[in-house]
Amino acid sequence: MPSAPSESSAAASAAKPPLPKAELHLHIEGTLEPGLAFALAERNGVQLPYATEEDLRRAYSFADLQSFLNLYYALMAVLRTEDDFADLADAYLARAKEQGVRHAEIFFDPQAHTARGVPIGTVIGGLARALDRAQENYGISTRLIMCFLRDESAESARATFEAARPYLDRITAVGLDSAEVGHPPSKFREVYALARAAGLKCVAHAGEEGPPAYVWEALDVLGVDRIDHGVRSMEDEALVARLVADQVPLTVCPLSNVRLRVIDDLADHPLPAMLDAGLLVTVNSDDPAYFGGYADDNFTAVRDALGLDEAALRTLARNSFRAAFLDEATRAAYLKELDAY
Ligand code: HPA
Ligand code: ZN
Repeated sequence: MPSAPSESSAAASAAKPPLPKAELHLHIEGTLEPGLAFALAERNGVQLPYATEEDLRRAYSFADLQSFLNLYYALMAVLRTEDDFADLADAYLARAKEQGVRHAEIFFDPQAHTARGVPIGTVIGGLARALDRAQENYGISTRLIMCFLRDESAESARATFEAARPYLDRITAVGLDSAEVGHPPSKFREVYALARAAGLKCVAHAGEEGPPAYVWEALDVLGVDRIDHGVRSMEDEALVARLVADQVPLTVCPLSNVRLRVIDDLADHPLPAMLDAGLLVTVNSDDPAYFGGYADDNFTAVRDALGLDEAALRTLARNSFRAAFLDEATRAAYLKELDAY
């Protein structure tokens, strides 16, 4: 299914190409644009509770993480077949290319699909089909990160991991997402130990709506390699010192933080303070179909709202490759490409 490049990003690429970057915090289900949602609804005979794309867009006003998640999970009803997942990922990759993304580490939420009767093999098979063509079609290298829904039980996460075992050669890391408060990382100690024993990397959302204590747990109980979001770490000096000392990457999502009211105003975002503190911070889009921008749109927004200069933007792009799950030769090649920009 063809994807429609947005006018603004087409205009931007006509001027100067966007900075080469890696996107490390991107939920593939959060790239479901209204146009594709309606097309898939029709293809699969699924009735959406919205008459038009404009009606649907009007629902994109969120009070908090949960109000977003309600819509995010509801719209997934249109994703049923391998083709659907392949089309979804392909549409994202086409947009990512326009945004200067050279490497994408892509989250997916298997439990949100298996709970609706879609087999995990259908989900991974469809995504893998698009990802296998990403280098050739878009010049983008890719990884898949399988997330557990933290508001489901630890047993469900474990069963999901066991169901994914036949596909682990396609999966680079496990992650943890969905409603954060009340679901601390320690709940998932066992399944993370299994993932690590199977040779997977580990990441977790922490410190988005949840307290700094959840970031500590993600580090010390789950042993994560990166923290997703982590903006609330700034409330805890000792935690910042730890993250700086170990150079733990934080995958920050500025437009998401504003849309989900984690931050009141982009002009108040702690990103500059995080950079100043020496944190290994990256900028990402999270759920770009819902939050008003893809990867480079987030770079442009923080430049404009926070006055970040060219050097700061380059640092963010450099950090994205430093924090990526890449072999050292590929990482060096991407950093060289960035230096030549
Ligand atoms: N936070 C938690 N869970 C999510 C998010 C997020 O920003 N996006 C999709 N699932
Ligand atoms: Zn996220």
